[in-house]
Amino acid sequence: MAVRSQFICSSCGYESSKWYGRCPSCQSWNTFSEFKAQDSLRKSQALDIASSTEPTQIGRIKSEAASRISTGFWELDRVLGGGIVPGSAVLLSGDPGVGKSTLLLELARNVSRAKSQKPTANSKVLYVSGEESEGQIKIRAERIGIKENDNLFIFSNGNLEHVVSAVEKIKPSLLIIDSIQAITSADIPGFAGSLPQIRHATARIVSFAKKNNTPVFIIGHVTKEGEVAGPMLLSHMVDCVLYLETSASRDSGTRILRAFKNRFGDSSEVGIFTMEGSGMAEVSDSSFFMEKSKKRVSGSCLTVVMEGTRPIIVEIQGLVVPSNLSYPRRVSNGIFEKRIELLIAVMQKHAKIPLDRFDVYVNVVSGLRISETSSDLAVCLALISSFKNRPVNAVAISEIGLLGELKSVLNEKARVKEAKKLGFKNIITHSKYGYLGDIIRSL
Ligand code: TYD
Ligand code: MG
Repeated sequence: MAVRSQFICSSCGYESSKWYGRCPSCQSWNTFSEFKAQDSLRKSQALDIASSTEPTQIGRIKSEAASRISTGFWELDRVLGGGIVPGSAVLLSGDPGVGKSTLLLELARNVSRAKSQKPTANSKVLYVSGEESEGQIKIRAERIGIKENDNLFIFSNGNLEHVVSAVEKIKPSLLIIDSIQAITSADIPGFAGSLPQIRHATARIVSFAKKNNTPVFIIGHVTKEGEVAGPMLLSHMVDCVLYLETSASRDSGTRILRAFKNRFGDSSEVGIFTMEGSGMAEVSDSSFFMEKSKKRVSGSCLTVVMEGTRPIIVEIQGLVVPSNLSYPRRVSNGIFEKRIELLIAVMQKHAKIPLDRFDVYVNVVSGLRISETSSDLAVCLALISSFKNRPVNAVAISEIGLLGELKSVLNEKARVKEAKKLGFKNIITHSKYGYLGDIIRSL
């Protein structure tokens, strides 16, 4: 077969039979490099991971649900849809320094320490790092309490061919790649982290995972400029995409793990962790996002938000102070500011609270970001409580309409149940009051 020349943009992956100085797709300069069409054929073959030779009746196919491997973290298991599916490829993405390497080293620790969950499988874990030396990983390992462990192998190498032979030799039951941008192959043009390199390395690793039924976790960086081309391309090649992020206040140690794509579970699930001195600790307490003081003071109200299928009690704090500005301040941490402005307008019109002469500050405790409207009532009550200097001892779960009316929210029963479980008695929903004004009169 004749070998045709093909050109590829290392920035966005655009392929063409012609060389361009400037990429017609992403407009970057000097990003085109040549590779042989056979390479691309080989790469597409590498992605051909389904290995059946004949169609099979669905009833005869063995379900893999039962063979999921526990990560040792309840939070991570839930985000994955109930543990790791053998042979699956999971991409973990997130800003630099957020804790990706730490989380996956802890995962390696947990799986390698676990008694083999299947009698035939081993508990060997291979952690490949193209970014850090073995010595540096050892320092982190000591911080998170890894001592002697014969099942945990560290391989500090960024060469794809070396990585593949190490994997074939050790035959781990879990493979971790930190990070895909640091793995390069001599067979492919382009520098480390360029698109052809990323695509090739991912295809090799994912196809290995599928063929050997070995799950693999791949760390993928996002750049400061938000250039997610690499990870975007990666997300098509893997089964599950997780994103680890800090909560709204950068200084807080809270880390939120979200699933964006999950072939084996619910992609709206969320896991909550905190970064401690000795690694990532999971947060299983649903009242984590509220101040733990017994006495409620003015300027605060509780609500229940849903993170995936999980109800979480969150405290909303409000501060209302006289303003001498012609445009009073509206500052919000954790809730969309336009929503706060809308609620202020509703309070002014329907609850007769003259907030146009006051600065308004809203804060969600522990830096959680709320994007649902179920916390509308709690925001209003926190602000009214601050304005009137009177504590509100309630959990408020309701959306507020422009007429000042209370509206039902999704999963209301689950939210109310969670609040009751934690011992709250005064739970305000739309079925208790019709309008915001009614509640204010009863305060
Ligand atoms: P790291 O896992 O290296 O982040 P990433 O791989 O996403 O770039 O985590 C880096 C940060 O975490 C660093 O600022 C130090 C902090 N850290 C802790 O607070 N506690 C710990 O136990 C560890 C290992 C790291
Ligand atoms: Mg790292």
